[in-house]
Amino acid sequence: MAFLDIRMLRKTYGSAVALDGVDLTVQAGEFVTLLGPSGSGKTTLLMSIAGFTRPDEGGIVVDGNDVTFMDPEDRDFGLVFQGYALFPHLSVAENIAFPLKVRKWDKARIAAKVEEMLRLVDLTDYASRKPKQLSGGQQQRVAIARALAYGPRILLLDEPLSALDRNLRESMQRELKRLHQETGVTFIFVTHDQEEAYAMSDRIAVFHAGRIVQIGAPREIYANPQSLFVAGFLGGNNIFKARHASADGTLTFFGNACSRPPRFNPAVHGKEGEVIGWVRPEDIAVGDTDAAATIRFDATVVDISFVGSAEKLTVTTTDGQELTLQVPMHSAVDIRPGAVLRCAVKPEAIGFLPPDI
Ligand SMILES: Nc1ncnc2c1ncn2[C@@H]1O[C@H](COP(=O)(O)OP(=O)(O)O)[C@@H](O)[C@H]1O
Ligand SMILES: [Mg+2]
Repeated sequence: MAFLDIRMLRKTYGSAVALDGVDLTVQAGEFVTLLGPSGSGKTTLLMSIAGFTRPDEGGIVVDGNDVTFMDPEDRDFGLVFQGYALFPHLSVAENIAFPLKVRKWDKARIAAKVEEMLRLVDLTDYASRKPKQLSGGQQQRVAIARALAYGPRILLLDEPLSALDRNLRESMQRELKRLHQETGVTFIFVTHDQEEAYAMSDRIAVFHAGRIVQIGAPREIYANPQSLFVAGFLGGNNIFKARHASADGTLTFFGNACSRPPRFNPAVHGKEGEVIGWVRPEDIAVGDTDAAATIRFDATVVDISFVGSAEKLTVTTTDGQELTLQVPMHSAVDIRPGAVLRCAVKPEAIGFLPPDI
C-alpha cells in the first residue's frame, strides 16, 4: 500500500472547479512534484493534504489512516511557502525552536535539535541573527529547517524558490535534493517551472484544470508527453501538423512525404487525415547531417536570437509551419534572415499525440 493515497479528490469554489477528481499515490521517501500552470489546482491539492482545505469529495489516506478531515496540527506535516513566514522578532535559532516549544519538547532536546538543523542547512554561524539580516535564500533555509525540525512524515513545499533569483534558485534546488536524501522525508513540491521539476523530482505529476494529466519520472515525461497540453507546457517543443494517408501508409509534413515513423500509431494518433506531431529543437539538425537523419526538408530563417550556448532560430517550412531550432555557435551554417536551411530529423525523434478532445 502506498504511504500517501489520494483518491478522487474534488474541490469547488462556487462554479470554479479547483480539483476535478485527483488520484495520486506517493511512496514513503519519494520526492513528487506537482507541476502545472497557475490556477491548475496545485496549491488546492497541497492545502488539502496539509488539512487547511476541506475537499468536497474523495479521501486522503496517510500510512493507512484516513486524514481527509483531520485537523492540520494532528497531521504533523511540515509546510514551506514562497513567503518564508518567519517570525521577524525571533532569531534564526528561536524560529527553528518554535514548533518544538509548541510541542513541549524539553530544553536540552530542543537545543540539540536546533543545532542539528542549523548544521543540516549550513547556518550554524547565523543562529543569533534575525530574519531581516539574512538573504532570501538563507531565510528560506531557516523556513525549511523549521518545517523539518520536529520530524514530519511529509514536507509540503508550495513554490518555495519562486522569489529567488536564478543562481540562488539552482543552488537551493541542489540543497533541497540533498536535504531530501539526508532526511528520507517524503517531499511534495509545487512549482510551475518545468526545469525545477526535472532537477529534483523522482516523479512529476503534471496538472491541468484541476486534474493530473500525466505522471512519471522526469525523463519519461520529457521523452513521452501524452497530450497536446503536456507537449506544449513542457516548453520548447515544436508541435506541428502532418497528414496521414492510410492507403499507402505515408505521413506528409514540412512538404515531404515519408513512410510511417516508428513512434506513429494510427490507432492512437489518427487513422486518416490530420495528425499532430512534435519534435524537440535539439533533434533538428541543420546543414551537414548524418545519414540516419532520413527526414529532410528546407526551411527559411525568419528570426534569430542568441541564447548563450547557441543561436535559436525561428524558421518556416515549405508547408507554412513555424519551427524553432538551435544551431551551435561557430557553426558554418549561413543563418541570415531569409536564408534557406537544409534540415534533417531522425524518424525516431518524432513523437505523435492523440487528437485533443
Ligand atoms: N479560496 C478560494 N476561493 C475561490 N477560488 C479559489 C480559492 N482557492 C483557489 N481557487 C481557484 O481554484 C483554482 C485552483 O487554484 P490553485 O489551487 O491556487 O492553483 P495553482 O496553485 O495551481 O495556481 C483557481 O481557479 C483558483 O482561482
Ligand atoms: Mg499555487
